[in-house]
Amino acid sequence: MTKANRALVASLELAPEQMDFVAGNAASLEEAQSDEDARPRVIMAGDRIVGFLMYDAPDDDDEARIYRFMIDRAWQGRGNGKAALREVLHEIGGLGHVRHVSICYEPQNEAARQLYRTAGFVEEGLDEDGEMIADLVLPRG
Ligand SMILES: CC(C)(COP(=O)(O)OP(=O)(O)OC[C@H]1O[C@@H](n2cnc3c(N)ncnc32)[C@H](O)[C@@H]1OP(=O)(O)O)[C@@H](O)C(=O)NCCC(=O)NCCS
Repeated sequence: MTKANRALVASLELAPEQMDFVAGNAASLEEAQSDEDARPRVIMAGDRIVGFLMYDAPDDDDEARIYRFMIDRAWQGRGNGKAALREVLHEIGGLGHVRHVSICYEPQNEAARQLYRTAGFVEEGLDEDGEMIADLVLPRG
C-alpha cells in the first residue's frame, strides 16, 4: 500500500451479492492506519491493481490472521485470488515466527471456502458471529 494507490484500492468493487462477505476497502484502510499490527497489501496482476488483502502476524504470536481478502469483480475467476493467497502465505512463512494461519468467512461463501480449502485450510467451526473459521498449519522450513 502507498498513499498514491489508496484511492484505487478504495474504488475496487464486489458484485452486489458479495458485499456482505468482506468490509469495504476504504474502511479497512482507515482501520489499518490505527492498528500497528495490520499489514494491508495491494494485489497486482501485472501493473494493474486487482484486489486487496490484510492480515496481522504479531511478533509474540505463532498465529497470523488473514482478515480481509477481495478481488475486484472484473478480475475474479482468473486465478488472481489463488495467486494472491499463495503469495501472502509465502510472505507470512518468511516472517519466521508464524506456525499457522487463520481465516474466516461467511458459511455461504462458496468461492472463499473452495479457495481456502484448496490451499490446505481446514474448517474448524463457526465463531460466535456465525462465521466459519479455517486454519492452515504452515510447513516447517
Ligand atoms: C473469494 C475471492 C477472493 C476469490 O478470488 P478469485 O480471483 O475469483 O479466485 P480464483 O480465480 O483465483 O479462483 C480460486 C479458487 O476459488 C474457487 N472459486 C472462485 N470463484 C468461485 C465461485 N464463484 N464458486 C465456487 N468456487 C469459486 C475455486 O476453487 C477456484 O479454484 P479453481 O479455479 O481451481 O476451481 C473472490 O471471489 C472475492 O473477492 N469474493 C468476494 C469477497 C470475498 O468473499 N472475500 C473473502 C472473504 S474472507
